[in-house]
Amino acid sequence: MPNFSTADVPDLPGRRVIITGANSGIGRAAARALAAAGAQVTLAVRSLDRGRAAAADIAGKTEVRELDLADLASVRAFAAAWEGEIHLLINNAGVMIPPLSRTADGFELQFGTNHLGHFALTNLLLPHVTGRVVTVSSTAHRLGRIDLDDLGWERRRYRRWQAYGDSKLANLLFAAELQRCLTATNSPVLSMAAHPGYAATNLQSHSGSRLWDSLGGVSSSIFAQSESAGALPTLYAAVADLPGGSYAGPGGWREIRGAPRLVGRSARAQDPELARRLWEVSERLTGTSFPL
Ligand SMILES: NC(=O)c1ccc[n+]([C@@H]2O[C@H](COP(=O)([O-])OP(=O)(O)OC[C@H]3O[C@@H](n4cnc5c(N)ncnc54)[C@H](OP(=O)(O)O)[C@@H]3O)[C@@H](O)[C@H]2O)c1
Repeated sequence: MPNFSTADVPDLPGRRVIITGANSGIGRAAARALAAAGAQVTLAVRSLDRGRAAAADIAGKTEVRELDLADLASVRAFAAAWEGEIHLLINNAGVMIPPLSRTADGFELQFGTNHLGHFALTNLLLPHVTGRVVTVSSTAHRLGRIDLDDLGWERRRYRRWQAYGDSKLANLLFAAELQRCLTATNSPVLSMAAHPGYAATNLQSHSGSRLWDSLGGVSSSIFAQSESAGALPTLYAAVADLPGGSYAGPGGWREIRGAPRLVGRSARAQDPELARRLWEVSERLTGTSFPL
C-alpha cells in the first residue's frame, strides 16, 4: 500500500488491543491511532501513574493495566487476569543500552525485557488472541549474534549495544518461529514484526550516562522522525493485508524514516534452526510454551 498512514487504519469498533509500553513513544502513538479507530486499547505499563497520564491524553476507549516485563511474576499476573478476546497484541515495550543490570528473575535486562518478557506474555495470552501478534524489533537486530551458551553475559565482558542487538534479533526470531507454530496448528492468528526506523522517543535516555543520553537527544532531534511516524510500521503490520511472518519498517533511506513497507532482515534472523533453539531455551527460562 503506497504511503500508508493512520487514515488507512480501518474502523475497529469493539476490537480489543493490548500494547506493551504504551505510556511512551511509539507504543503511545500506536495506542492513540488504534483508539481513534474505535478499538478498546489496554495500555500495559510498568508504571500505572505514567500509564494513566498517557491515557488521559488519548481520545477513545483505553484502560491501563500493570505489566512489568522484567518480572515474570508480573507477566503471569497480567495474563491470569485477562478475560475475553484479544484481537491484537502489540509487543512493543523495550529498553536500550542500560548499564549491565538484571530482571527480577536474574536475566540480562535487555534480553529479559525485550525478548523473554514478551515471549512469556505471548504464550500465556495466545489462547485469547484471535487476530495478530505484532512484535517490535529494530534495524539493530543486524548487530545481533545471540550466544545461546551465555545469554546472561556471565562469561563475556558486557557489551550493551551487542546485548540490545541480540534482544532485537530475538524479537524477529521469535516472531518467525511463532508464525511457524501457528501455521503448523492451522491457527488463523498471524505473527508479524515491525520496526520504527529512528523515532524521537525516550528510548535513548536510559544509558546511565548523561553524556551519551544528551548525544542521543541531539542526534534524535536532527535525524529522527516523530513518534507518530515511528508507529506507522507497527500499525501497518497490525492492520494491512499482509501474509503472516511479514516484517514492516520505514521505506526511506536505510529504513530510518518514511512511509512503511515490507523490509528485509539479516540472514541470522531467517535462520530456522537458531529460531527453534532460541524458542526452546526461552521456554525453559520462562516456564511457558506454545499453548495451541
Ligand atoms: N525509537 C527508536 O528509534 C526505535 C528504533 C528501533 C526500535 N525501537 C523499538 O521500539 C519499541 C518502543 O520504544 P520507543 O522508542 O517508543 O521507546 P520509549 O519511549 O522509551 O518506550 C518504551 C516503553 O517500554 C516501556 N518499558 C520499558 N521497560 C519495561 C518493562 N520492564 N515492563 C514494561 N514496560 C517497559 C517503557 O516504560 P517506562 O516509560 O516506564 O520506562 C516505555 O513505555 C522498543 O521495543 C524499541 O526497541 C525504537
